[in-house]
Amino acid sequence: MAIRDIVKDGEPLLRKKSRPVDRFDGKLFALLDDMLETMRAADGVGIAAPQVGILRQAVICELETENPEESEILEMINPEILQKSGKQTGPEGCLSVPGKRCDVLRPKTIKVRYQNRNGEVLTRTLSDFNAVVASHEIDHLSGILFYDKEVKPSK
Ligand code: CO
Repeated sequence: MAIRDIVKDGEPLLRKKSRPVDRFDGKLFALLDDMLETMRAADGVGIAAPQVGILRQAVICELETENPEESEILEMINPEILQKSGKQTGPEGCLSVPGKRCDVLRPKTIKVRYQNRNGEVLTRTLSDFNAVVASHEIDHLSGILFYDKEVKPSK
């Protein structure tokens, strides 16, 4: 595993659309392993492949579990949000946009279909914090950054 450089806001690549992953091979495994190591080194809770310069549809989310001491690492390849429900607004930041935080409107719950690193198709329902992280990371695959969806306080 290796820590890769994080692509920063302002680089055009971050605004491009990622292509689907079609090969579930050692190169993908190395990418995912490096993404996790890079995310951990930067103290993040999510990372998308374009953030390490790879325009492929792969994200990693560090999810909350019922045990506050434990998190779950979820890898999603070719993720697609099938359903969204409810709303929540809260502060977000991004490893590619250091120093900026702002409030973002997100669904409270999402149902997402994705593939794991072995290519198996799975669906998962995520709520609250986990829905925020997954929505944020999946947005990266369309070239969307969190502050595009900033909710400004009403006066
Ligand atoms: Co981000």
